[in-house]
Amino acid sequence: MTPQAPKPFLYVVVCAAGIARDVSELITAAQQRDWEVGVIATPVATNGFLDTAAVEALTGRPVRSAWRTPADPRPFPTPDAVVVAPATFNTVNKWAAGIADTLALGTLSEAYGLGVPIAALPCVADALAAHPAYQESLIRLRGMGVRFGQPYTGEAGVGGERPDFGWERALDLLG
Ligand SMILES: Cc1cc2nc3c(=O)[nH]c(=O)nc-3n(C[C@H](O)[C@H](O)[C@H](O)COP(=O)(O)O)c2cc1C
Repeated sequence: MTPQAPKPFLYVVVCAAGIARDVSELITAAQQRDWEVGVIATPVATNGFLDTAAVEALTGRPVRSAWRTPADPRPFPTPDAVVVAPATFNTVNKWAAGIADTLALGTLSEAYGLGVPIAALPCVADALAAHPAYQESLIRLRGMGVRFGQPYTGEAGVGGERPDFGWERALDLLG
C-alpha cells in the first residue's frame, strides 16, 4: 500500500477576545478542508477565553502557549499556513512592532520569514481600532503580505444581536 502524504499543517493562533470561545468552529472547518490543525494560544487566552480541553480533543494535540525548553523537541511540525483568529488589538500591534514575548507572537513573527500564507481575523472594537498605532500596524502587516478579514468589532447591533464572526473567512483568505 502506498503511504499517504501527510496533510498540510495549519497553525491557529488564538488571542484573548471574547469570541475565542467559538474557535472550535474554525478548527472543524479547517479539518473538513483537510488541514491538520495545531492551536497556539496567547497566555491571556488560556485564562478562560477558550475551552482548552475541547480544543485539545478536537485537534488531538496540546494547546501550546508557553515556550518549550531548549531540550524539548518542537511539538508541532513546521506550518504550511498560519491563521490568527481572533486577533486582538494588543497582539496586532505587538506583531507589527516585531515583539515576540509570547509563543503566539514569536510564531506569527517567524511565519513571515517562512514565507507561508498568513490570514488574520481581528476582533477589535471601533474605539480601539481608531488608535493611530493600530492603523499603522495594519498597514505594516498588509505590506508583509498578511491577509486581513473585514473589521469585526464584537459589538452587538441595533437588535442586540452580535453579527456572525465568520470563522471560515480565515480559510478563504488562505486561498
Ligand atoms: C471579556 C473580555 C473580552 C475581551 N475582548 C477583546 C476583544 O474582542 N478584542 C481585543 O482586542 N481585546 C479584547 N479584550 C482585551 C484583551 O484580552 C487584552 O488586551 C489582552 O491583553 C490581550 O492579550 P493577547 O493579545 O495576548 O491575547 C477582552 C478582555 C476581556 C476581559
